[in-house]
Amino acid sequence: MMSTARQDNSLEPQRLPMEEISTDVSVAQVGMDDGYADTKVALPDGRLVSIPSRARVGQAGVTWIRETAQSIFEYKTEGTVYSVGVVDGEPTQFDEYPTSGLNRVIVQHALHQAGLSGRSVHLVSGLPVGRFYRKDGQRRQTLIDQKCDSLKKTVEPLTREGNPDGSRLKTSVAFHEVIPEALAAWYDHVIDCDKENVRLDTEKLSAPIAIVDIGGRTTDYVVVQNQAVVHGASGSLNRGLLDVKAWVSNGIEEHFDVVNIGEQRLDHAVKANTLRLHGKAYDVTDLVKSAKHELVERLYMETRRQLGQGAELDRILFVGGGSAALATDIADWFPNQTIADHAAFANARGMLKYLQYVCDDRITPGHKPDDNE
Ligand SMILES: Nc1ncnc2c1ncn2[C@@H]1O[C@H](COP(=O)(O)OP(=O)(O)OP(=O)(O)O)[C@@H](O)[C@H]1O
Ligand SMILES: [Mg+2]
Repeated sequence: MMSTARQDNSLEPQRLPMEEISTDVSVAQVGMDDGYADTKVALPDGRLVSIPSRARVGQAGVTWIRETAQSIFEYKTEGTVYSVGVVDGEPTQFDEYPTSGLNRVIVQHALHQAGLSGRSVHLVSGLPVGRFYRKDGQRRQTLIDQKCDSLKKTVEPLTREGNPDGSRLKTSVAFHEVIPEALAAWYDHVIDCDKENVRLDTEKLSAPIAIVDIGGRTTDYVVVQNQAVVHGASGSLNRGLLDVKAWVSNGIEEHFDVVNIGEQRLDHAVKANTLRLHGKAYDVTDLVKSAKHELVERLYMETRRQLGQGAELDRILFVGGGSAALATDIADWFPNQTIADHAAFANARGMLKYLQYVCDDRITPGHKPDDNE
């Protein structure tokens, strides 16, 4: 499985320990895992923030009775106004999402929710493994550059009257690098750090490992051996927890003879196993269970196809919110498996560590990683 694959020798976090990236205190460092389901933020003080990747085009058209109760926020980017927060979100499951205005306003809102309004930030974000690398291991540089540029574009917070919002200042991205999503979790795994020390775990660094990132739209596989990606055993499957939502939606429409269940209502039904219709609560446990079962079956098949029995691997590390959501279903897939702590945040933590301990002196305005890195 592993011997024929081309290897990418760009992984080693070589410059440990190192000084802070910037001496400018106004610049904040951010690990930004801007997924199709949730947008997760990791900050150097240890805070982890997650918001649903939920927004729609247009103003909310809502007047807040009490200002403190505001739960929808408006932003403008490239001439289009979006509402973010407690709205029925537009589907994010389209290929251009990572470079879209929809993504950009959600990321901006996540930065605000993390307390970074008005700040300049350095951030690392990700793309699914299958969008980052071609099958032969070459980077898809055009898409990577587009994603890099997209998050640097201006996003203006607006008041509900559509004016620039003086109380919520725009956060601007001064440096941005993109890495493969599941690979970020590998950096999280091999770089140990606490307030005082940063340490590369040499044992973990040399051990062959597979990372399985079960997300919303995608499930990513990355095998790392000798600090290089084994491309033949790595890639993305377009399946994740958002499929459960879609299948439950179909089931509800069929069973209850209704159309267009709102996205928030559906989300609640999947999480709480109940659905309110016409003022009455209905139990949808069986629908949710069978949708999850279908996903687990598909993931199991793909995981076996990618990793076989995993006998050559030291460890199989499950990350992503899906690994937490399906923890009991995937518990006995491999004898040598672990689910990461706060699995949904493993990529975001790894992105932050990559920014802090790998990017270092490459941070100069307008920097673009070249193909040979
Ligand atoms: N602790 C948890 N328990 C149960 N479910 C969770 C937990 N954390 C996250 N989830 C759910 O897991 C799903 C996938 O979350 P995740 O954040 O990994 O997706 P994503 O990264 O946005 O998607 P993608 O990787 O496809 O872009 C979401 O629907 C989320 O609600
Ligand atoms: Mg993800």
